[in-house]
Amino acid sequence: MDRPAAAIPIIQVEHLAKDFMLGSQRVQALVDGNLVVWPGEFVAVMGPSGCGKSTLLNMIGGLDRPSGGRLRVDGRDVDGLDENALADYRRRYCGFVFQSFNLVPTMTARQNVEFPMVFAHIPPAQRRERAAALLRAVGLGDRIEHRPLELSGGEQQRVAIARALANRPRIILGDEPTGNLDSKTGVEVMRIMDGLNGRGHTLLVVTHDPRLAEYCHRVVHMEDGRMLREEPGGLTRPTVAWMQAA
Ligand SMILES: Nc1ncnc2c1ncn2[C@@H]1O[C@H](COP(=O)(O)OP(=O)(O)OP(=O)(O)O)[C@@H](O)[C@H]1O
Ligand SMILES: [Mg+2]
Repeated sequence: MDRPAAAIPIIQVEHLAKDFMLGSQRVQALVDGNLVVWPGEFVAVMGPSGCGKSTLLNMIGGLDRPSGGRLRVDGRDVDGLDENALADYRRRYCGFVFQSFNLVPTMTARQNVEFPMVFAHIPPAQRRERAAALLRAVGLGDRIEHRPLELSGGEQQRVAIARALANRPRIILGDEPTGNLDSKTGVEVMRIMDGLNGRGHTLLVVTHDPRLAEYCHRVVHMEDGRMLREEPGGLTRPTVAWMQAA
């Protein structure tokens, strides 16, 4: 992974807004999103259902476009990118982990992890090797040729995490990654995310699980499309930005 520059935030969200039109009705999913994430941070976003958490995450991940405000990643504007540039941004910077795993059921674990690498034009032999290494790294070395239905929920989410890492993204975005898992398996997934952060990945994770606060540097609370307040999490590991500032 490239070593990030310390002086600039990896994610910078200023007065970000997102409206959806439902017929003639305007839904303000995000009213005033403000967030700064530094390289190497592990940040959780919490808040009641419908407060705009997924909307925020989807815009940061380039899956959707804001209606207003500013979004910069690694010092570059993302809000104004055209479709091709946005797809390129997404591929290079963002790895996604969703609540419902979103694995392709007909593909094996390895093929699922290889999938994003196809779009990054990584040669087949290298894809296979990297996918197997990523699956081993999330503890699935003996499940590489299993299909999603032959895996437990926790194992499926670990495949999804390996897939999120496929193109070596700078940022891992999680939308309730433990939401469909039982309590013990949820903790296993949090530990894996903790391990990724320990290796320098920046993580921004939406969650309803208060236990995640113990694993992250900061918890940002949202309400009604805005940031309400933030508080420190239980994680004291220095971030890349702290180390470079020292
Ligand atoms: N595509 C859409 N069209 C219309 N309204 C939408 C759309 N996506 C989200 N919304 C609305 O925007 C608001 C914020 O939605 P969002 O999915 O960001 O909430 P959330 O905080 O992720 O909630 P949850 O915790 O339930 O996942 C909600 O009122 C939702 O109904
Ligand atoms: Mg959501």
